[in-house]
Amino acid sequence: MRITIFGSGYVGLVTGTCLADVGHDVVCVDVDADKIARLNRGEIPIYEPGLDAMIAENRDAGRLRFTTDAEEAVRFGKLQFIAVGTPSDEDGSADLKYVLKVAETIAQYMGEYKVVIDKSTVPVGTADKVRDTLRRTLEARGADIDFDVCSNPEFLKEGAAIEDFSKGARIIVGTDSEAVRKAMRECYAPYNRNHEKLMFMDVRSAELTKYAANAMLATKISFMNEIANLAERLGADIEHVRHGIGSDPRIGYHFIYPGCGYGGSCFPKDVKALAQTATNIGYDAQLLGAVESVNLRQKTRLFEKLNQAFDGDLKGKTIALWGLAFKPNTDDMREAPSRELMEALWDSGARVQAFDPEAAGECRRIYGERDDLVLVDRRDDTLEGADALVICTEWKIFRAIDFDNLRQTLRTPVVVDGRNLFDPEIVKDAGLLYYAIGRGESL
Ligand code: UGA
Repeated sequence: MRITIFGSGYVGLVTGTCLADVGHDVVCVDVDADKIARLNRGEIPIYEPGLDAMIAENRDAGRLRFTTDAEEAVRFGKLQFIAVGTPSDEDGSADLKYVLKVAETIAQYMGEYKVVIDKSTVPVGTADKVRDTLRRTLEARGADIDFDVCSNPEFLKEGAAIEDFSKGARIIVGTDSEAVRKAMRECYAPYNRNHEKLMFMDVRSAELTKYAANAMLATKISFMNEIANLAERLGADIEHVRHGIGSDPRIGYHFIYPGCGYGGSCFPKDVKALAQTATNIGYDAQLLGAVESVNLRQKTRLFEKLNQAFDGDLKGKTIALWGLAFKPNTDDMREAPSRELMEALWDSGARVQAFDPEAAGECRRIYGERDDLVLVDRRDDTLEGADALVICTEWKIFRAIDFDNLRQTLRTPVVVDGRNLFDPEIVKDAGLLYYAIGRGESL
């Protein structure tokens, strides 16, 4: 099939590349000429394991192209995916200006029937707005051309996007059109071989499914963080509690890891946007508000622990920080707990010596050069002259530690672990004070 993808960001690139990889002919179009030029030179703007090789292979085979020429791109594909960004508005709702601009562009150039597909995470009711925009623009052109709009939300995780695309649990399509059902069946047939993954439903249910999935996952995390904070105060160990409750299949082991708060470009934004949707229709979504506020509070916990460990005096202290990305296997620092922590440390006059296997460049881009931030290339270089160690991301390289050496290197024996990576007994035996989430030393 001939497929056009608007937006060469995370979702667009992964979608386009994976569809090309199974044999479709794909054109990715973006307004950012620099990004397209880089992609055409083989430079990939995001870090995603396996994506660069897959792009190269499909580009060389002629199945995947990158362009800024929207007119040519609209004419190319029968399927027109909209995968552009939906940044948060001031009130937390998703800003649809880029999505609707693409709808306008499609209507401006289309010469025959197209299926327009909302792939970006967009609020319930967006497909109607996209349809209206297409209709108005076609009318203004005096063109009488048929089209359909459907919703096909993505469920990719950063760091595992290719796997999620090809082996995802479900493919959701919201539509009331038989022509769309047929087209989407054909598009996803290569991924729908062993058992039926396609789920057709009405458009609004598909749009809400995406938000409900992310809000449910965020709720699990905030719930566990709440229980972890209770465990700390009650002298319990959250890791035992996690095992204890996860063994009930109705609860399950997945996604119940307590930590220093969820980050990334999805959960914080989507929980806020769904809460704002509720407000807009006059419904008081109490649980969604609580999920967000528990998370905001959780992101301050690492600083609080450090601050208490140093009796409120962090001025002039040097803190070794492991992990800047919001989770492992990505260089993404959007809404990362490390940012909240570093900014609070700087405000208290502390210096940060940080290491992250992938996100140092991103950190430099965000914060620039500053005296109170040193980014080093090796994990243990952060420890030189450091007063304490704090862990924000559970990269694999942080798991096996020589605690005796750590004890000898740190100026004071303080380890604050935002990801519960270690056995508290082992850390304590090495003479370190171990402050983790819902376990370890109580403050
Ligand atoms: C998330 C969803 O997992 C995807 O299904 C969804 O498609 C995507 O958002 C999206 O809407 O595009 P992602 O943001 O890449 O994917 O990252 P996750 O792996 O879900 O992690 C999100 C955050 O939750 C991270 O900060 C992570 O550290 C935290 N987390 C996750 C916990 O604190 N505890 C857990 O048990 C799991």
